Amino acid sequence: MKPRSSNDTTHAPPCGLAGPELNRREMVLGSAAAALAGGIALDADAAPATSASTPAYELPIRLQVNGQPVALVVDARTSLLDTLREDLALTGAKKGCDHGQCGACTVHLDGQRVASCLTLAAQADRRTVTTIEGIEGPGGALHPMQQAFIDHDALQCGYCTPGQIMAAIACVREGHAKTPEQIREYMSGNLCRCGAYVGIVGAIQQAAPLVRRA
Ligand code: FES
Ligand code: FES
Repeated sequence: MKPRSSNDTTHAPPCGLAGPELNRREMVLGSAAAALAGGIALDADAAPATSASTPAYELPIRLQVNGQPVALVVDARTSLLDTLREDLALTGAKKGCDHGQCGACTVHLDGQRVASCLTLAAQADRRTVTTIEGIEGPGGALHPMQQAFIDHDALQCGYCTPGQIMAAIACVREGHAKTPEQIREYMSGNLCRCGAYVGIVGAIQQAAPLVRRA
C-alpha cells in the first residue's frame, strides 16, 4: 500500500466526489452552490423546523444515521464529518487530513464508502449514513471485521482504525478482497502512520467470508 499523490488518478479520494484536479475549496463551493440552487430542496412536510430568520446558507436536512432518523439544520458549507462529530457526537470517524488524503474519516453513505471530510452534510440529505458506531451486532457484538482487526493486531495507536474498518467492509462488499493485491489496491487510500498494513490485509482476508455472508 502506498500514499496517494495529488496527481495519481488511480487513487482518487474514496468519496469519489472530487477528482485530483479539484481542490477542497472548489469542491465545497461548487457543491454548496448546487445544493442552494435546489438540489436538496425539501418538502414542507419533511423539513425540520426553521425560522424566518434562518440564514440562507443554513439548510434543513433529514437522514438516517446508524439506523436512527436525524433531523437538523446545517450550514451549507459544513462537512458530513464535522456534522457527525460535532452535532451528533459520533466521534468514531476521525479527522486526519481534512483533505481527502488519509481515509481516517471514512463512513458509508447509502452503503458506499465516502470520505466524510469531502462530503457535505447537505449531500447526505434523505440518505443513510453508517459510521463505525453503527456496525455492531446484536447485543453489542463486535462486527467480524472489528474482531479480525483484533485477531491480526491490525492497529497500534488506533487513530486510523475506524476508517480502515469502514473501508475494509466496503472492500469486501464491493468485491475487491479476492487477493492480497486487490485488498492493498482498494485500501491504498487509507493511510496508517503506525504501519499496520500487513495486519490490516490479514484481517480483511479473515473477515471476508463472514462479511460476504452477512
Ligand atoms: S481523508 Fe478525510 S480526514 Fe483525511
Ligand atoms: S494504527 Fe496508528 S495510524 Fe493506524
